[in-house]
Amino acid sequence: MTKEVLESDVYEVFERIQDPNLVYPDYYLNPFHAYDEGNISWLVAVETEPATMSIAKRAIPEATPIEEASQIIRDNWLNVIEEHHLKYSGNSQVNDILDIGCSIGVSTRYLTEKFPSAQAVGLDLSSYFLAVVAQREEKLSRPKPIRWVHANGEATGLSSNSFDLVSLAYVCHECPARAITGLVKEAFKVLRPGGTIALTDNS
Ligand SMILES: C[S@@+](CC[C@H](N)C(=O)[O-])C[C@H]1O[C@@H](n2cnc3c(N)ncnc32)[C@H](O)[C@@H]1O
Repeated sequence: MTKEVLESDVYEVFERIQDPNLVYPDYYLNPFHAYDEGNISWLVAVETEPATMSIAKRAIPEATPIEEASQIIRDNWLNVIEEHHLKYSGNSQVNDILDIGCSIGVSTRYLTEKFPSAQAVGLDLSSYFLAVVAQREEKLSRPKPIRWVHANGEATGLSSNSFDLVSLAYVCHECPARAITGLVKEAFKVLRPGGTIALTDNS
């Protein structure tokens, strides 16, 4: 999987996607997950999908093939989001989705498949992660292609009241408390009245 990405045209996509003026929060510049450059490198970006899959397999070891483990975990998550939204949003449709901390887009793609008529935005601080998913997505013909935004989830630059669903999936456990506060405040800011914030994480 890693070789396939490294030998693709991901580098061109990276040039288009990155915001060279983005200022990273200090915690993001620390070594992380045993990578000296934290999340800001090609190595971590290409190893993230196999790592994500193996985490799911560890949670549900009996699932075979390995993709089945991810599907079970994500289906549980998506069903809870859908139920909650139906119950509390006055049955309003999900038209706009923001996936903060989308990484290589696994959560964003699952959300898009659950709510296919919605316009989704995947946002992350690592342009390496975004380039990996954007390069792959460019080959697909989705009716509403996902937008990929290189920004800090604490200050997205996106309009207030513009999303029906804001997701923070497996993001907060990687952040210091002050960043979690910033992320949740920003999620509330961009959420439409009656919208849903889905905050999911490891216990
Ligand atoms: C474990 S990954 C998320 C995985 C993904 N949401 C999923 O469910 O497959 C955590 C992500 O949060 C991102 N992140 C951390 N702090 C952030 C911030 N302040 N703004 C945006 N993204 C952030 C990291 O770059 C990383 O990609």
